[in-house]
Amino acid sequence: MAEPLILAIESSCDDTSAAILRGNRVLSNVIAGQAVHEKYGGVVPELASREHQKNIVPTVHTALREANVEAKDLTAIAFTQGPGLMGSLLVGTCFAKGYAQALGIPLVAVNHMEAHIMAHFIEQTPVMPMICLTVSGGHTQIVYVKGPLQFEVLGETLDDAAGEAFDKCSKLIGLPYPGGPHMDRLAKEGDPMRFEFPISQMPGYQFSFSGLKTAVLYFLQKQLKHDPEFIVNNQADLAASIQHTIVQILLIKLRKAVEDKGVKSVSLAGGVSANSHLRDSVMSWKSDAFDVFVPDFQYCTDNAAMIGCVGYYRFLQGQEAKMDVVPMSRLKI
Ligand code: KG4
Ligand code: ZN
Repeated sequence: MAEPLILAIESSCDDTSAAILRGNRVLSNVIAGQAVHEKYGGVVPELASREHQKNIVPTVHTALREANVEAKDLTAIAFTQGPGLMGSLLVGTCFAKGYAQALGIPLVAVNHMEAHIMAHFIEQTPVMPMICLTVSGGHTQIVYVKGPLQFEVLGETLDDAAGEAFDKCSKLIGLPYPGGPHMDRLAKEGDPMRFEFPISQMPGYQFSFSGLKTAVLYFLQKQLKHDPEFIVNNQADLAASIQHTIVQILLIKLRKAVEDKGVKSVSLAGGVSANSHLRDSVMSWKSDAFDVFVPDFQYCTDNAAMIGCVGYYRFLQGQEAKMDVVPMSRLKI
């Protein structure tokens, strides 16, 4: 029997994305970004919902066209149920429900955080069990992955997410939103050892990033009193030093989880896994006896292909959603 043909919809934050998958193979993965938030220095939920409303139909049509697939041939529709912004999630959920009903095909509800991990199962099957570090704008988690859809969360952040730490610290040193990619680029020109910031000491596999943001703020306030040009003159060294600190905080816990669980593979997921310092550091652990999985850039940040991959595995297990399914802003793994 042919593998199921799945349309996936992602609308949890500020990217509208639609993908078509045949099994776990991606035929198209279309992402419509939302530049409207840039001037506000962060995502404005109300504007995000309105942009999704504008983008969703053309994005789905483009995904179908690029995959050379007709809607009548679809087997199921997978959509992001949560976690995320309620207004944004509602747009994707309502669209998915309406389209599934019109086409007379099943609906599959997908957890966005599971999808970031399951991006590793797109067109491959990683070595398992593995430890996955999921680092995004809203979440930071260390997850023990026993198999597809078999997860045990070992620890997470108690306050800010790693992506938030990147974005908030970037803002403090004058970089545009979202700061993560800008800090990554600028850090390449700077000295990561120039400034020392505190590495939070949390129990077990827990993280905390809010102290770092405060430490950077106080440090900058002090320096600016003596030298109003301090940030401008030291921006690259600041970026490199802050990035180094965030990556060290992540690597210490990741290493601990790998050693404690005795796994033979590790993986990165979520938007922050696009960070080149984090990727290079984890890649350096690779050996004949130890595997490292880092998703393609297009599957690191929010995308519908990863939603489709979870949708595929859930569909195989017969886990269809009912028509009264609702989005959940705080959905947990
Ligand atoms: O997973 P994602 O696309 O959206 C959420 O679900 O949050 O992650 C977005 C986050 C943002 O905080 C962004 O600054 C960060 O990922 N990010 C990066 C890089 N690219 C994206 N952070 C550091 N370095 C990067 N290269
Ligand atoms: Zn995400």
